[in-house]
Amino acid sequence: AYPNLAPRPPMGWNNWSYYMCDLDEKVVLDNARALVRTGLARKGYRTVTVDDCWMSRQRDDRGRLVADRTKFPHGMAHLGEQLHRMGLKFGIYADVGTLTCEKYPGSLGHFQQDAEQFARWKVDYVKADGCNVPVTPGHGKEAAYRDLYGQLSRALRATGRPMTFSVSAPAYFQFDGDSVWHRVMGWSAEVGNLWRTGRDVALEKSTPAAKWASIVYNFRYNSRLAGLQRPGRWNDPDFLLAGAAGLTRHETQSQMSLWAMMAAPLISSTDVGELSPAARKVLGNEQVIAVDQDPLGVQGRVVAQDDGSAVLSKPLKNGDRAVALFNSGGSPRTLSVSAGAAGLAKSGSYELHNLVTGRRTHSEGNIVAREVPPHSTVLYRVTPH
Ligand code: DGJ
Repeated sequence: AYPNLAPRPPMGWNNWSYYMCDLDEKVVLDNARALVRTGLARKGYRTVTVDDCWMSRQRDDRGRLVADRTKFPHGMAHLGEQLHRMGLKFGIYADVGTLTCEKYPGSLGHFQQDAEQFARWKVDYVKADGCNVPVTPGHGKEAAYRDLYGQLSRALRATGRPMTFSVSAPAYFQFDGDSVWHRVMGWSAEVGNLWRTGRDVALEKSTPAAKWASIVYNFRYNSRLAGLQRPGRWNDPDFLLAGAAGLTRHETQSQMSLWAMMAAPLISSTDVGELSPAARKVLGNEQVIAVDQDPLGVQGRVVAQDDGSAVLSKPLKNGDRAVALFNSGGSPRTLSVSAGAAGLAKSGSYELHNLVTGRRTHSEGNIVAREVPPHSTVLYRVTPH
C-alpha cells in the first residue's frame, strides 16, 4: 500500500470551488498569507493546493509539465519555496487521463516524469483527478482507472519524496452501482491516502440553495461510507464552503461540524483574506477541529436518521464521544438520542460540552436531546460522569 502520509485527515486550502481557473501566483500567495495571518495555519490548515489550470497548454520540448507563465511567472518551484517559507505545504493538481477536466495536459504516459517533476518542485501533496481516461473496448472502465492510479501511485512513491496522494477515482464511479463504487474505494485506499466521495461541492457562482444542497448530498453520501475509512485512509467529501456567498452561519457551521464528525479532510475553498469574522470562527474552532483530528481516527457513524435529520456519534481517544444532532430541514426540531444508541457508557449523567457555543450542561437520564434550528447542527463532546 501507499505509505501512510496522512495519519490525520489532511487540512488546508484549495482554490477550486471559489476561483476555479481564475487563479495565479498572487491568488495563491495572498491566500497562503491570510492562512498564516488569521491563525488558521497554526490550527492545521497548512496544505495549499493549486487545482486545475495552473499548467501551460503544452508540455515543453522534453515533455515536461510547465506552469502557465502568465499565471505563475516565477514557476512552481518558486511557489513551493514561498509556501514552505511560510511554514505551509505545497499541493498540486494532476490528472491521470490524457487531459485534465479543463483540457490541460494529463499525466497519462508521463507518470514517472511528472512525479519526478513534482518531487523536484518539492511538492508535498498531489491531487490526481480522473477526467479523460481512455476506456478501450475489452478493457473495462474500472480496470483502466485502477491501472492508471496505480501507475501514478508507484511513480510518486519511487521518487522517495513523501507526497500525500489524493485520489479522485471514486467520484467517477458514483453512478456505476454500489458494488463497483465500493471496490473502487477499496483500491483507492491502497494507492492513496484519501479519496473523493460524492459529487463536487457547488461552485462559488452557484446559488446559495445549490451550495447547501451539495453539502447535504455529500454528507449523506459520505456518512454511509464510514466502514471504508480507517486511520490514514480517509473518505473525502470535498471542500469546506465557509465564506461562500449566501451560506448562512448555521449552514457554514453545520458543514464544519458534520465534516469533523466524519473525520473528513478539512480543505477550505474560499478567499481567506475576505472571510467574515463569523466564518473564520467556524473554520478556526479548535474544539471542532480536535474532533476531526482526534488520534483515534474513526469516522463517526449515523445512529439515527430520517428524511430531515441525522444523529451521529464518533468515539474519541480519551473515551469521550462526539455527538451531533443535524437538522437538515426547514423548521426547528427537537432531536434526541439515547446514551446507549450513541455508544456512551451507561451512566447516571453526562456532561455535554457544546463545542460551538462553549456551554457546558448536564444531561439527566440516558438521553441527549436539544431543539435544533433549521439547517443547523448541534455538536457535543459528551463525557460520562
Ligand atoms: C473535478 C474535481 O472533482 C474538482 O475538484 C476539480 O479538481 C475540477 N475537476 C478541476 O477541473
